[in-house]
Amino acid sequence: MERVDVVAASAFYPPVMEALTATYAVHALYQAADRAAFFAPLKDKVRGIATFTDKVDAGLMDTLPRLEIVASMSIGLDHIDLAAAKARGIRVTNTPDVLTDDVADLAIGLMVAVSRRLVVADRYVRDGGWLKGSMPLQNRLGGTKLGVLGMGRIGAAIAKRAAAMNMTVVYHGPRPKPEVPYRFYPDLAAMAADVDYLVVAVPGGPATRHLVDARIIAALGAKGAIINIARGSVIDQAALIGALADHKLAGAGLDVFEDEPRVPEALTRLDSAVLTPHVGSATHATRLAMGRLMLDNLAAHFAGKPLLTPVA
Ligand code: DGY
Repeated sequence: MERVDVVAASAFYPPVMEALTATYAVHALYQAADRAAFFAPLKDKVRGIATFTDKVDAGLMDTLPRLEIVASMSIGLDHIDLAAAKARGIRVTNTPDVLTDDVADLAIGLMVAVSRRLVVADRYVRDGGWLKGSMPLQNRLGGTKLGVLGMGRIGAAIAKRAAAMNMTVVYHGPRPKPEVPYRFYPDLAAMAADVDYLVVAVPGGPATRHLVDARIIAALGAKGAIINIARGSVIDQAALIGALADHKLAGAGLDVFEDEPRVPEALTRLDSAVLTPHVGSATHATRLAMGRLMLDNLAAHFAGKPLLTPVA
């Protein structure tokens, strides 16, 4: 049987790539030096795109008139033009749930690293600082208040972990969730003013761009810290760096940035910031599960069955 043509917009985790190429005629867009030459023989054949975080915009969709599905190996969808897909009748799938625990673990890890200055402590040992004296005391997490911005699947998993660590959890989002046992703040600035830690767990994209701006950072104040495991676009990064540099914010734990993989040098110089390279879901087991789900969505689509995790 002839294999379905699928464009791989991204380089995937090798076992996922192997499974993809075992089933489909895969065309690696991420390796193409000349896009026009790449698409010329393919444009009337390709029925699917598999992507990780690489952009799938209206132009790419129009290049492939037979495109039926964009399957993303991610929960975030800010790299896909969903409105363009909808207008063209192209289905879109993502990979929710399977990464929730890993991303929540990293959020807690960053919060501990920020409050206890773990990166500074590690350097203190390696550089022989300990031989000269004890490291200065740091701040506890238990007994403090955490504001979760975005009580979705990942926000709820972070909240559960934080509550188990004796933090008081509150949240802000578009609407209160009656099933959630935490206090809801209809106003983000009011919540920021009331908490010690603000964890960002909302989707990226235009609707949430710079939701955490200079005003919210100022409301959090000099004793507050921000953790972001969502998307860099949600925080006004320049305002965040300014507040950290001026000691108007105590710390930040950031897994995501405005212009990844570029991170402003000013941020890398700040001891109050703990920085990780967008690794929320980057474990072997979870990347395999994400890949499996992406492949299962593609298989369901091409078999004419219901999609497992459709978004459009
Ligand atoms: C996601 O799944 O959206 C993660 O951020 C990986 O990019």
